Amino acid sequence: MKKFLALILALVMVMGLVACGSNEAPATEAPKADAPAADAPVADAPEAPAEEQVGEGKVVGIAMPTQSSERWINDGANMKSQLEALGYEVILQYAEDDVQQQVSQIENFVAQQVDCLVIAAVDSGALTSVEAQAKAAGIPIIAYDRLLMDTDAVSYYASFDNEGVGRAIGEYIETAKDLANTTETYTIEFFMGSPDDNNAVLLHKGVMSVLQKYLDNGTLVCKTGRTSFEDTCILRWSQETAQQWCENYLAAYYADEDLDIACTAFDGFAYGCRSALESAGYVVGENWPLITGQDAELMATKNIISGHQTMSIYKDTRLLAEKCVTMVNAVLTGSEPEINDTTTYDNNVMVVPSYLCTPVAVDVSNYEEIIIGGGYYTAEQLAG
Ligand code: GAL
Repeated sequence: MKKFLALILALVMVMGLVACGSNEAPATEAPKADAPAADAPVADAPEAPAEEQVGEGKVVGIAMPTQSSERWINDGANMKSQLEALGYEVILQYAEDDVQQQVSQIENFVAQQVDCLVIAAVDSGALTSVEAQAKAAGIPIIAYDRLLMDTDAVSYYASFDNEGVGRAIGEYIETAKDLANTTETYTIEFFMGSPDDNNAVLLHKGVMSVLQKYLDNGTLVCKTGRTSFEDTCILRWSQETAQQWCENYLAAYYADEDLDIACTAFDGFAYGCRSALESAGYVVGENWPLITGQDAELMATKNIISGHQTMSIYKDTRLLAEKCVTMVNAVLTGSEPEINDTTTYDNNVMVVPSYLCTPVAVDVSNYEEIIIGGGYYTAEQLAG
């Protein structure tokens, strides 16, 4: 009887997983994750069938945070196609920024006994117990882009140099406004990432490592006074919140003087600031501020071309997916993946061996070379 009940339970769990899988990509809201939209970065041609289909018979569960931002759709699709080319079966799920939904999705992966988990967390602190379950079940975990905090269950971490992203944003502003030599002062406001995302903390650190001295000597003036991470972080990287904050700042602090710089940590925030600035009557080419972003999404790149955003940080999601796939292979075949950082990413329990890709600042002067030349988007996609 016990065995029968266990069988029924297992069946129910697997059915739950299939049911969750069905919301993988609501057709009305976003392109299907495994069928990149016409505006997705140009995917690398799937590798020729590997001589050895190392993944044959093995299942990889991928838990992604949201489809509300283009980049995660591309990350998921890139990983799926690269893993499938190696013979793996892939189950790709999105949690739509709902912490509990992501916990259940991973619980279901564990119940289904997938062979490996790849997780880009919504709120990494909320996953410690389900990660412990995975570890107990012998399922290795790779942290994707966002570090998994407070757990010893993670094998490797594939990401970008996140403090380097912040430094690149800070240095871009420093050079564009010649902060080291100018006698002008510039107004600036900050829109930083989610407090439950380690990347956001590091990015702010990187930005301030460059800009703090100019806030201190008065070259940069932040009229709201909000410069600390605590005061500028935006939960779940919400574009709507960024827009709301920008509207409030412009109304309350910038009635008599223009905002010169919107230092934002994410293309979604740059879109929100754009809307707020347009509503407040700012005009490109006249008093439009310098706006930074991150991810070089298609829309952001188009906004860079039209002058509505000044720069973004290009993070090649194809490369990140590739690094992650080598980590999946390594844990499942007992080999060593390529690692280039063994000191930076301390998750409070362990230092997670990492591969950090290099972020690159893009603006109107180099997008053709970097974005089009790198085959990320075609000129047609950017013109459309
Ligand atoms: C971060 C990531 C950024 C951006 C952001 C919002 O974790 O490092 O590149 O994508 O999430 O999605």
